[in-house]
Amino acid sequence: MWKNWRQLVQGAQKTKKTEEQKGTEILSPSAHVPAHVAIIMDGNGRWAKERSLPRIMGHRQGMQTVKRIVRKADAMGIKILTLYAFSTENWKRPKDEVDYLMSLPQEYLATELDELIQRNVQIRMVGKEERIPSSTLEAIVTAREKTKENTGLILNFALNYGGRNEIIDAVQQIATLIQDKQLTIDEITEENFSHFLYTANLPDPDLLIRTSGELRISNFMLWQLAYTELWFTDCYWPDFTEDDLEEAVRAYQGRSRRFGAITGGRS
Ligand code: FPP
Repeated sequence: MWKNWRQLVQGAQKTKKTEEQKGTEILSPSAHVPAHVAIIMDGNGRWAKERSLPRIMGHRQGMQTVKRIVRKADAMGIKILTLYAFSTENWKRPKDEVDYLMSLPQEYLATELDELIQRNVQIRMVGKEERIPSSTLEAIVTAREKTKENTGLILNFALNYGGRNEIIDAVQQIATLIQDKQLTIDEITEENFSHFLYTANLPDPDLLIRTSGELRISNFMLWQLAYTELWFTDCYWPDFTEDDLEEAVRAYQGRSRRFGAITGGRS
């Protein structure tokens, strides 16, 4: 039964897996630069408010930061950059703001995709595709297809993403497999469970950055962050610079990651 694990996972996915998802192997983290950096890009609204601008102008400026930070992450040798662009809770915002936020991936890809392709970047998305406007989804799916063979930085947008939702989805898939007698209860291990998450085939983040001074996880990658190093800054996302990213990585390099053991190496 165990030998067929991968097949079981793929069969259990509610949405059809793309060729890109099927073919990807788990990446190994580098010793010095964190392989996987995840960012909660917070503070766009406050950035705008301080300038007496509408909130969407904060998000617009936040997109400019995304452009700079993607280039910098690539240059630093980061392998995976996961950006929390829209949470399942963000639907509670006014419609204008939701519409604007949902238009940003499309706008970003319209201006940046050529350069991303040149840089060998692979675009991915984690989150539920349902509810995402079709034009936004189309832009992401097209970018994903065009970049699926790329072997450089994985730029992973968390869009309509919720950590609890992701876990519930995984549990439902596993329960169905057990009901169908394709899986036994003792085969549910930590490693196997992670194959049912949206991030299957990706290593857990090594470093989580949250901007704007808030000290919360906000339903982001709840399972995956178990042993991630956390780094917080008061800086609002639109003001976040390449130097700030370097500072976060330096802080990470100075940490001793023990994963619950007594001894452990640096970073
Ligand atoms: C939280 O700030 C930020 C968001 C909900 C959206 C983040 C999106 C971007 C930075 C742009 C994404 C760009 C692309 C290309 C997808 P907030 O609005 O909650 O700020 P506040 O706490 O100060 O109000």
